[in-house]
Parts: sequence; structure tokens; C-alpha cells
Amino acid sequence: MDINQLKKAAADEAAKFVEDGMMLGLGTGSTVFYLVEAVAKRVREENLHITTVSTSSRTAKQASDLGIKVIDINDAPTLDLTIDGADEIDEHFQGIKGGGAAHLLEKIVAINSKRNIWIVDQSKMVKTLGAFPLPLEVIPFGSEKVYQRLAAENLHPEFRLTEDGQRVRTHNKNFVIDLHVGTIEHPHILADWLDHQTGIVEHGLFLDLVNQVVIGKESGVEIINAPR
Ligand code: A5P
Repeated sequence: MDINQLKKAAADEAAKFVEDGMMLGLGTGSTVFYLVEAVAKRVREENLHITTVSTSSRTAKQASDLGIKVIDINDAPTLDLTIDGADEIDEHFQGIKGGGAAHLLEKIVAINSKRNIWIVDQSKMVKTLGAFPLPLEVIPFGSEKVYQRLAAENLHPEFRLTEDGQRVRTHNKNFVIDLHVGTIEHPHILADWLDHQTGIVEHGLFLDLVNQVVIGKESGVEIINAPR
């Protein structure tokens, strides 16, 4: 089955968790694209009254173009639910996000949400995190120094580049450095170390955050609950 069909199947299933009156967080990425379409369909057909907060201008535009109300997170009360994609999820429900360079906004929305659901195709489920490069959002000032510190720790940093060789800029005009670690045996220890490095605004380790994972598989959609 085509991977996009698996993403769409997970997104369609997750859209069923949206309830009338909800304050909803919308993630970013190709899987969330299908989610926004599915939520918009429900809003139209079932006349749902929901308000959303978005994690990127891409998602905000898609949602408002489809008639979904989008507001600024600063004007929103605590979110009832956030649905987002992920790049890797391990067997302890820890995740890597930021493949689309949106992890700072995604984490702000996630931690302000009562519940978090991740929607993925089956290829994102792994035993141990780290095969997917771990994204960091880094302030441009002094970013070479941050890079050198990461290299000295054997974290194999690489500035993320656009197709024409420019450094990728995030929503907040910061750079992205990807860490090619291979295997992250102790995500909490790495997250704690990264949290204390001046110049790194946010890393893509999303630990102890997700409540449910909706997985699009060849055999159908599976929903698994995190023990929290
Ligand atoms: C955006 O920065 C990411 O965290 C995405 O949520 C993640 O990369 C999943 O994207 P896809 O749904 O496109 O795989």
C-alpha cells in the first residue's frame, strides 16, 4: 500500500476524536495535511463548532482555507486535544519530531494541551530512537559555537540546508541543526543535556508527552494508548 494511504488512514481515524466545542491543536506535516482535510469535512457535514491553534503557517492556511477557525495560541485557553505527526516513536512512546522544522511551535502547543495524539504510518514505529536525525532549533548568533560543542560531544551535527544550499530557517528565523546520532539509548539524559545548552532554542525529543498513537498499517489502523 502507498505510504500516503497509510498516513491518510491514520489521519481519518484520528479525526474521529474531535468533538463539538473542542479547542484543538493542529500539528504540521504531510500526515496532518490529511487530518486537516478530515476535520474540515466533519466541521462541514456535522456542523461542529471547534476552534484551533496551529503549529505552522502552512497548517493555519490550510485550515482557514477549509473553513476551520484558527486563533493565536496566546488567545486560547488550555487545549483539549492536539493531533500531530511524528518522525519516530519508540516502544516507550517517546518521539522525535521536527522533520519539517516546526518542532518548537509543535512542542509549545503540545505542552499546553490536555491530550496529545500522534498520527503516523507504520514506518515511524521503532524500537530505539535515533535513526531519524534529531532536529535542533538554534539561534543564528553563535550557532557555529553550538555546532562545535555538539561535534565535540560526538553528536554528529549537520546544519539543515535548503535545496539551493542555504541554511533552513524556521518560523522564528532560526537555524536547524540535525544530530546524526544513530541510536539514542537514553533519550531523557540527552534531552536534559540539550535543554541546558545556551543557543539551542528547542530540540525534537518529545518525551512523556503523547497519550495515544494512531498507526496506519497495511493490515488496518491500530490505536495504542500510552501508559499515562
Ligand atoms: C514537523 O516539524 C514534524 O514534527 C512533523 O510532525 C513530522 O516530521 C511528521 O511529518 P510527516 O507527517 O510529514 O511525516
